[in-house]
Amino acid sequence: MSSTNFVLAIDQGTTNTKALLVTADGRVLHQASVPNTVTYPQPGWAEQSATALVDGVRQVIAQVVAKAGASAIVALAISNQRESIVVWDAATGEPIGPCIIWQCRRSAPKCEFLRAAGHADAIERKTGLALDPLFPAAKIAWLLDNVSGARARAERGELRVGTVDSWLLWSLTNGAVHATDHSNASRTQLFDTAALQWDTDLANLFDVPRSMLPEVRSSDSNFGHLAEGTTALPAGIPIHAMIGDSHAALFGHGVRTPGAVKATYGTGTSLMTLTGERVLSSHGISSTIAWSQNGLPVHALEGNISVSGQSAAFMAEMLGLTDAAALSELAETVPNSNGVSFVPALVGLGAPYWRSDARGTLTGMSLGTKPAHLARAAIEAIAFQVADVFSAMQRDITVRLAELRADGGASQNGFLMQFQADVLGRPVTTGDAPEVSALGAAALAFAGLGIATSTVPETKRYIPTISENDRAAHLFRWHGAMAQTLHTQP
Ligand code: G3P
Repeated sequence: MSSTNFVLAIDQGTTNTKALLVTADGRVLHQASVPNTVTYPQPGWAEQSATALVDGVRQVIAQVVAKAGASAIVALAISNQRESIVVWDAATGEPIGPCIIWQCRRSAPKCEFLRAAGHADAIERKTGLALDPLFPAAKIAWLLDNVSGARARAERGELRVGTVDSWLLWSLTNGAVHATDHSNASRTQLFDTAALQWDTDLANLFDVPRSMLPEVRSSDSNFGHLAEGTTALPAGIPIHAMIGDSHAALFGHGVRTPGAVKATYGTGTSLMTLTGERVLSSHGISSTIAWSQNGLPVHALEGNISVSGQSAAFMAEMLGLTDAAALSELAETVPNSNGVSFVPALVGLGAPYWRSDARGTLTGMSLGTKPAHLARAAIEAIAFQVADVFSAMQRDITVRLAELRADGGASQNGFLMQFQADVLGRPVTTGDAPEVSALGAAALAFAGLGIATSTVPETKRYIPTISENDRAAHLFRWHGAMAQTLHTQP
């Protein structure tokens, strides 16, 4: 195949939908982005319009095609926000409700019910995931139980469900294909990641009719072809990779063997590392499937921090600053936080603590505390949370985790990255390419097409600069604040 073939990579994220026209050597020729709206109809709820997500994909494709034409595009690749679900009518393709997104906690009562009934351990053993409303299983049941007539329609086989990849695939193939990939399936809490199949017992436990679920395929499959009129592209172009965005970022960083951890710094932070064999965590980390190629799964550990970059934005607002960048500038004006710690448990705590009841805590304030110390504590909290997940991962596996590869907005903040390296005691590398997920999805599609690729070069390396004693002192202060957060709840 000629070297002038391009993959159009879609990164369907919570905040933006992007399209990148990517070459096999990882260059981005054109890109487009549209923002997405998230609505919060009740405290703890979060949703998006399912049809708007598809429209956003259509728009970014049209924008790239308008700039670059379509003739050299050999495939589409999709990386997507994970754990967000859509239920739709199989006959009409109409969603029966909103896309209930990963942040939404509306299914917490169902999870609590299953926990109280003693099912949490069995669920985690099969899926690798702690029982939590983050994951789709209980969200699907919520929709079926709260949209009038939905459960009966589902029982009659009239409804389909999918994570966002699956919903986009259905829409772009005009209902011809109902499938997902191993990485997305592994995040649903309905998929047995050892047996590599939907688990009937889990489906029954969560009240999700098996007939609604998509077929699960290798992440590098030819999933189907664009249908006539669905986008600005000609019909027939294959969708040749689908992969969750966090997983795609790990692929995009070029991590193919255990030993490196990637961290995507966004609203929250997702850390992922390959494990070789399937490993069930004993330290509050999820076990997941990173991706599959030629049907073979690659296993990983993942830790999701619910609020990280968002904690900087939050503190900026509290201090009357314009944004997180202004907060970081203020933080750099002081040499330390003067004993102040901020635990940004603003929507509870995710990995490795899993305490949805936890709330944000400021500790160590005195009359000497200045706004800059609060700013510094908020920036440091991003790094401390990552360090906690990193060390929990290290306790789960024997291979030494030698470095962190960072991407996402906050990875461009040198002050934060240096502090990250210091508290980890490991080098942190960052690259120039901000869109690692899309590049990873494109690389996976090229691989699926049999075209050799190169991945994002890491351009900056932050080496730890502080002593072990200083590192221990930092962590001691942070863990003291964390202990207070975990013990003093309403
Ligand atoms: O697990 C949720 C994650 O995939 C969302 O990613 O990029 O939309 O914030 P993003």
